[in-house]
Amino acid sequence: MNALEQKIVTEGNVLSESVIKVDSFLNHQIDPLLMKQIGQEFTDRFSDTNITKVLTLESSGIAPAIMTGLVLGVPVVFAKKRKPITLADHFSTEVYSFTKKEMNNITISKDFLSPDDNILLIDDFLANGQAVSGMVDIVKQAGANLAGVGIVIEKGFQHGGKILRQDGIRVESLAIISSMENNKITFDKEGAL
Ligand code: G4P
Ligand code: NA
Ligand code: NA
Repeated sequence: MNALEQKIVTEGNVLSESVIKVDSFLNHQIDPLLMKQIGQEFTDRFSDTNITKVLTLESSGIAPAIMTGLVLGVPVVFAKKRKPITLADHFSTEVYSFTKKEMNNITISKDFLSPDDNILLIDDFLANGQAVSGMVDIVKQAGANLAGVGIVIEKGFQHGGKILRQDGIRVESLAIISSMENNKITFDKEGAL
């Protein structure tokens, strides 16, 4: 079991068969050392492509994204869930959250994405893939290239990962949970950190 899986098992709280709370190291309190390892691992996995920018969605994607940007030495941009009144010319797309049962309009300023960019998308969770699909849409609007997607925790029993991979998108997940039934977390071994 890798360090991230170990952390998920010891500190994660299975709330239901499909939702796990990881507030002690990822979604509320943040473990910087683990985030640093995560940034290094994403960098290693995508070392064959020349990433120019890391893109994520606020708020929980920012910690793993910034560590990845630090190791890669490239800027990190986060999509905003609420359009700030100061945001002038922007790309935007609709994202539906199954967890929160609401639509969010996510936006990124046109100043920070260009057709010359080779983008690595990072997010904390991959469930149904709505958030990632929204960011993929924005990368397309910008005319940038998508190098791939790095996910900290993929819930393999939901369909986001399958849909993105079927679309030919490279998805690298550092832990893939295959089941949380009966409070027992099992991992898909392909996701080893
Ligand atoms: P999707 O993007 O893959 O379709 O997932 P979904 O709409 O279901 O996710 C909505 C929010 O819930 C996202 O955070 C996502 O990261 C998070 N999430 C999904 N499944 C789990 C889970 O099992 N455990 C935890 N802890 N989070 C989960 P968000 O709304 O963007 O919030 P945040 O980034 O501000 O934390
Ligand atoms: Na998230
Ligand atoms: Na979240």
